Amino acid sequence: MANVRSAYTDSVNFFGREDPLKLAERFGTPLYVYNEAILRQRCRDLLGLSSHPGFHVDYSAKANTNPALLRIIRDEGCLVDAMSPGELRLNLLAGFQPEEILYVCNNVSADELKNAAAHGLLVSVDSLSQLELYGRVNPGGKVMARFNPGIGAGHSAKVITAGKETKFGITPDCLSDVFDIAARSGLRLAGLNQHIGSLFMDGSSYLAAVNVLLDLAAEALRRGAPLEVLDFGGGFGIPYHKYEGEARLDLAGLGRLLHSRLTEWAADHAYEGRFCIEPGRYIAAECGLLLGRVHVIKNNGSSIYAGTDIGFNQLMRPVLYDAWHDIEIFRENGKPDAVMVEQTVAGNICESGDILAKKRPLPRLREGDVLAVLDAGAYGYVMASAYNQRPRPAELLIGMDGAARLIRRRETFEDLTAALI
Ligand code: LLP
Repeated sequence: MANVRSAYTDSVNFFGREDPLKLAERFGTPLYVYNEAILRQRCRDLLGLSSHPGFHVDYSAKANTNPALLRIIRDEGCLVDAMSPGELRLNLLAGFQPEEILYVCNNVSADELKNAAAHGLLVSVDSLSQLELYGRVNPGGKVMARFNPGIGAGHSAKVITAGKETKFGITPDCLSDVFDIAARSGLRLAGLNQHIGSLFMDGSSYLAAVNVLLDLAAEALRRGAPLEVLDFGGGFGIPYHKYEGEARLDLAGLGRLLHSRLTEWAADHAYEGRFCIEPGRYIAAECGLLLGRVHVIKNNGSSIYAGTDIGFNQLMRPVLYDAWHDIEIFRENGKPDAVMVEQTVAGNICESGDILAKKRPLPRLREGDVLAVLDAGAYGYVMASAYNQRPRPAELLIGMDGAARLIRRRETFEDLTAALI
């Protein structure tokens, strides 16, 4: 191996029988690479949170919708969510059955609601207005209502989805209105759900919000709602600062508390329905990385810039949220190098904000190096764009046998012009 910095991928045998330099040669860069064993392990971590028979993991497909990954996630025993007709289509393509899919949408048209109902999905609406609309679209059917438990969490204000300032959810004081509207349209309130936000590393806010939803559910049951699904949302964080030894989320501790609370509540309320969690990032982030190449090294003033082909068209998180992704370095005949030099890693997009890592201490980069941007499996490819008319990258899966298989070809210029008239 020709690794300048690869302690993390080495420790998990990320590349299996493959070599990142050869993959970059063979398939070109930028290139998303996923590891099946890690994906399976992350599903198992969360499925192990509770052995309560009604406990389910609903993978939030917005994090990564590649059907090859969805099939593995389904094979591990997870259910799935969809929030748009496009996600629904991919879930079905991957083999999920309608009863395995929760439709958790926000501010959608009557046509989208009709489409979800026509597929026989349980649909969550997140405002009284959408509940009214759904009553017209699916009279006499089932519905789920998304509440804002008043507790939020997340790595950036842009992804905190509950609490005071948010576009999401119905406030608990509107429970009576939910019942009134449902009764008027003959809708059966079959579920309650929430999502407090994306990325917590300490489960206390999540558990506090679980209690809020359980209290609401108790009240809804008391009023006669035929509840069959209680969905507490996602947000389970992963350690992005691996090279600084960031601790993992304490899933064993969280699981103990969650399991005992759910078991006790189900017994107290004679509830035999489902309890769901709805994680996206925890399942998909760590199984994916993005390979790219350094084309330029230059000094601008006192800063060293490494110019790469990893722009924010390929991975948007650093630019959108100031998000951190660890970077590994591979080089022909490279040797491990522990001497750190501050360098700014930039992409090839025509914007000065196109920075992947700012003044990042890294071994000194050279032209031709291959970089691996870690933890890019969630909210990576799905948020990529063709900005500057650069086609989206290819995706590869390292299977359980350690061999790589292409699961999405690189986009072509023909793809980019296909919709033009
Ligand atoms: N459920 C609902 C209703 C959601 O809106 C989301 C994420 C999830 C579940 C899954 O959350 P997770 O377990 O992945 O945290 N693009 C951002 C994250 C946006 C999350 C949007 N909603 C990022 O790259 O950090």
